[in-house]
Amino acid sequence: MSRWLVTGSAGMLGRDLVAALERDGAQVVGLTRRELDITDEAAVRAAVARCRPDAVVNCAAWTAVDDAEAREGEASRVNATGAARVAAACAAAGIPLAHMSTDYVFGGDARRPYAERDAAAPRSAYGRSKLAGERAVLRLLPRAGYVVRTAWLYGAHGPNFVSTMIRLERERPTVEAVTDQRGQPTWTVDVAERVIALVRARAAAGVYHATSSGEATWFEVAREVFGLLGADPARVRATTSAAFSRPAPRPGYSVLGHGAWATAGLEPIGDWRLALRRAFPALAASAVTA
Ligand SMILES: NC(=O)c1ccc[n+]([C@@H]2O[C@H](COP(=O)([O-])OP(=O)(O)OC[C@H]3O[C@@H](n4cnc5c(N)ncnc54)[C@H](OP(=O)(O)O)[C@@H]3O)[C@@H](O)[C@H]2O)c1
Repeated sequence: MSRWLVTGSAGMLGRDLVAALERDGAQVVGLTRRELDITDEAAVRAAVARCRPDAVVNCAAWTAVDDAEAREGEASRVNATGAARVAAACAAAGIPLAHMSTDYVFGGDARRPYAERDAAAPRSAYGRSKLAGERAVLRLLPRAGYVVRTAWLYGAHGPNFVSTMIRLERERPTVEAVTDQRGQPTWTVDVAERVIALVRARAAAGVYHATSSGEATWFEVAREVFGLLGADPARVRATTSAAFSRPAPRPGYSVLGHGAWATAGLEPIGDWRLALRRAFPALAASAVTA
């Protein structure tokens, strides 16, 4: 696995994935949306033929969750049709594809972590579009397709909750964060490293959950961020989702189980608090320049 092609390479995860591959000594071609629109079948095939990668990671996606409610067709074109086009090109070239997906494929009302094989029941247009993409990848690449679900991402190269809290701590005396959404804050760099390990290990094709372990509410995450900044965590006030009216419903419970990693002989991502500590210098620096 020395040559990699990364689609959506200007996105928050795409940028950290390209950097992680370069650190790993791989040859990487990262293509931004302008350089490769994954909905363009001929362009996808041509990119794979030109780059001759040993593996592809699809980080390209429609990620505007609320906009997808009114524009489901456009979201599906990227997240379902686009994913299928990348998968078909990989199948034709005989190479593996790691395709990024989301906790939003689940109903969000469980009481225990979602296992990789649990039934999907998306409640939003975004979730439906991503589930259709997953199914296309697994159908077209039954032996070389990896669906890697992640959630609650933060990183130095895109808008995210942690960076927003770092900025708001400077701007406001108090902030509000919800106590009725539970998930696993996850650093893009950790996801990138897991994706690379998965493909390099030639693990069994299928679904993997790349989120931190442990769980927290957004309220707890915000308090942790304030603590890391040396600010008083009590400046974070508790609220509920009812205070934020949004077009797409947010899952109340988005905790994902990590059983598939053990079967593949690989370690899952560790505890979310430790990851946030490791990530924090880079995040704080990028928030200052944002
Ligand atoms: N962020 C999260 O919390 C989160 C949670 C769960 C799952 N995920 C999944 O993780 C993956 C990466 O997410 P991210 O946070 O890095 O998202 P992101 O920052 O929005 O990156 C997605 C990239 O895809 C590009 N793109 C959109 N349509 C495209 C197309 N037709 N062809 C090629 N590129 C296209 C976007 O370009 P433009 O910016 O120019 O549109 C953007 O650079 C996605 O599959 C997402 O569904 C993310």
